[in-house]
Amino acid sequence: MSSSSASERSASALDVAALPWSSEQLETSNPELETLKRHVAEGLRRPQKTLSSMYFYDDEGSRLFQLIMALPEYYPTRTEFKLFTQHQSALATALRPAVAQEPFFLLELGAGDGLKTKILLRHLLDTEADFTYVPVDISGAALDGLAASLRDELPALRVEPIVADYSEALRLMAARPGRKVVLFLGSNIGNFLPADRLTFLRNLAAPLSLNDRLLIGFDLQKDPRIIRAAYDDAQGVTAAFNLNLLKRLNRDLGADFDLAHWQHYTDYDPLAGTVRSFLVSSRAQAVHVTALNQTFPFAAWETIHTENSYKFTGPQIKALAAEAELSVTEFFTDEQDYFADVVLRPLQ
Ligand code: TRP
Repeated sequence: MSSSSASERSASALDVAALPWSSEQLETSNPELETLKRHVAEGLRRPQKTLSSMYFYDDEGSRLFQLIMALPEYYPTRTEFKLFTQHQSALATALRPAVAQEPFFLLELGAGDGLKTKILLRHLLDTEADFTYVPVDISGAALDGLAASLRDELPALRVEPIVADYSEALRLMAARPGRKVVLFLGSNIGNFLPADRLTFLRNLAAPLSLNDRLLIGFDLQKDPRIIRAAYDDAQGVTAAFNLNLLKRLNRDLGADFDLAHWQHYTDYDPLAGTVRSFLVSSRAQAVHVTALNQTFPFAAWETIHTENSYKFTGPQIKALAAEAELSVTEFFTDEQDYFADVVLRPLQ
């Protein structure tokens, strides 16, 4: 995004604020805030209170997630990085168009800092692939950082960053003609509930044609202690990341969560293959949310469920692909079988 369009945006935001509108009119002019408000009102009303992990990734959350990815306990990023390094040429071959010179879009959902993707980008540039990299992320700051580092490290690369959530990104992608390769790395696919995961994959697959490819990262089931530690690190970065959600609600919705009385808790259930993360109220308390004009009571040790992180087996991945009308063309894993990067294509 150019600096001139950013300043145009803030200038018009100032003009709007200067108008003598009622607060209702002002609120409806910010659809993102409205969505967050609806989400929080609905999630905190349920018997098991819940907040979506989608709201973790404000600029501060994205910064904390960078720290998580570098933690000794958080193996997924490191493992996938190694997979990309080792298999870059096989990966690139599996993703390249049937006609090698055909131009394509390399779209990445949830690009973050693009650390792993850069290995592939460099390889594609070195082998003279004709492509445009389209990183999509909901954090503008993360994308700005990525774009700046790409200008520096890979100046020949064509980049079109897009600030959007997954559903917006899917709409944009479907509307764009041309050959596509879509990357969905890390363990993001594991953050969907099973039904949503299938819907997401079907929506992702729908606009793809036979020569298009999907590359999806799947965290695999392994020693439960290793998985558990990845979501409850010794330095407490993951705790800060989880608790940042409450800070965000304090800031964006005028909530009064007192962070001294909230804890991060997480567990891995090998039966379900799921890590579940919670925010735990360490005493009975009431939290007021100004933007909702509502107070939410919490019993001592009541929890807010904030995240699921599913871990997969090989057969589950193949079954999921088939359900989404995709077929697996390549299945890359590391020597410890910790993580899989799977190349998929539409069945028809
Ligand atoms: N997508 C990441 C994952 O499932 C997100 C994540 C890492 C996360 N650690 C977390 C989410 C802790 C909530 C709490 O691995």
